Formats: sequence, C-alpha cells, structure tokens
Amino acid sequence: MTRLRLAILISGRGSNMEALLRAARDPAYPAEPVLVLSNRPDAAGLQFAEAAGVAALAIDHKTYGKDREAFEFHVDSTLRGAGVEVIALAGFMRVLTPWFVKRWEGRMINIHPSLLPKYKGLDTHQRALDAGDTEAGCTVHWVSAGVDEGEIIAQARVPILPGDTAETLAARTLPAEHKLYPEALAKACAVIAAR
Ligand code: GAR
Repeated sequence: MTRLRLAILISGRGSNMEALLRAARDPAYPAEPVLVLSNRPDAAGLQFAEAAGVAALAIDHKTYGKDREAFEFHVDSTLRGAGVEVIALAGFMRVLTPWFVKRWEGRMINIHPSLLPKYKGLDTHQRALDAGDTEAGCTVHWVSAGVDEGEIIAQARVPILPGDTAETLAARTLPAEHKLYPEALAKACAVIAAR
C-alpha cells in the first residue's frame, strides 16, 4: 500500500496533530506524516512533532503583515518541496485565501469543534450552550473556499450536560476529536487514492 505524504498544519497545542501522528505509527495507516508546519513559532505542537521524529517548522505569518498570499506562497512552496500529497489542518487558526484552497482542493481537510453546519467560525461551544442545544460534537470536512463549509467527511457527537461551560464541553469534545480525526483522514486518503 502506498501511504500518502501528509502535512499537518497547526497553530498551537497540537493535540489533534498528536492523535494523527499516533495513528500513523501503524505502517498500515494510509498517510505518512512528513511535515508539521505552524504559523506560530511558539506552537507547543512543534516540539512534540520533533520529538516524534517528524520534520517540524514554523512560518511566522506575522513576518508577512497583511500579505496573506505571500505567507501562503511560502507555505505552499514548502509543502510542495516536501512532496506533500494531503494536508490535515489541526487547530490551524488562519483563514486560507481562495488561491491556497484552490491549489490544494480535494487534498486538504480540517477538523472543527461543532456539528457543522452549526457554528462555523469561533466560540463554537459557547454558542451551542447559548442556543440550548442538548448535543455538540466535531466535524471533519474537506476544505473549500467558504470557511467551515466544505463537504463533510465524518462527525462525532457528545452530549451537553446540565451545568456545562464552554470549557467542560470542550474537554468532553476533544477526546471525540482525537478519535474522529484519524478515522476521517483515512477515509479522505482512500478517496484521494481512488482518483
Ligand atoms: C480543536 O478543538 C480544533 O477542533 C479547533 O481548535 C482546537 C485545536 O486543538 N479548531 C478550530 O477551531 C478550527 N476552526 P489542538 O491544537 O489541541 O488540536
């Protein structure tokens, strides 16, 4: 089986990245992590990736000021230089331009902490609580030009319990993300490989 060359893009803690790296330790997993890239040099996840033996680097978006495309051009050329075939966004908190999305169309997926199409964007858990929802969850989807709007690959649900805060709900959702993301990435790899 050919494993697709995987890049994981992060901005911070990187716990979903860790879940993907763990899954990919299995030689039968359909993706092989070749690069972890952060837009923030202080992202904790970079150290974990390095310790796990995966190339890890930061491209600091602040260096580019408001020039999103120049930042993305550097990211794109780095990914292509590493021979990347599939991208998993894992807590990558930069909105990508249509140019970058188009370049990686059908090869880039994202995890989002809500049951899309509900609660695109930020503060998903607080918004679910404010709406009086009885369940929350997470979604893995293909990345398309609209933020958090691409076709859904997989979802996982968690209950909302009395007394929940955004923090307790996030803490309940995160383990569901860690289980869902490796499964959904494997599905995405199967789709890519079948093209
Ligand atoms: C995760 O909950 C992920 O779903 C969310 O950020 C967190 C990153 O945690 N992503 C988004 O909100 C994207 N819009 P992690 O760095 O520990 O994986």
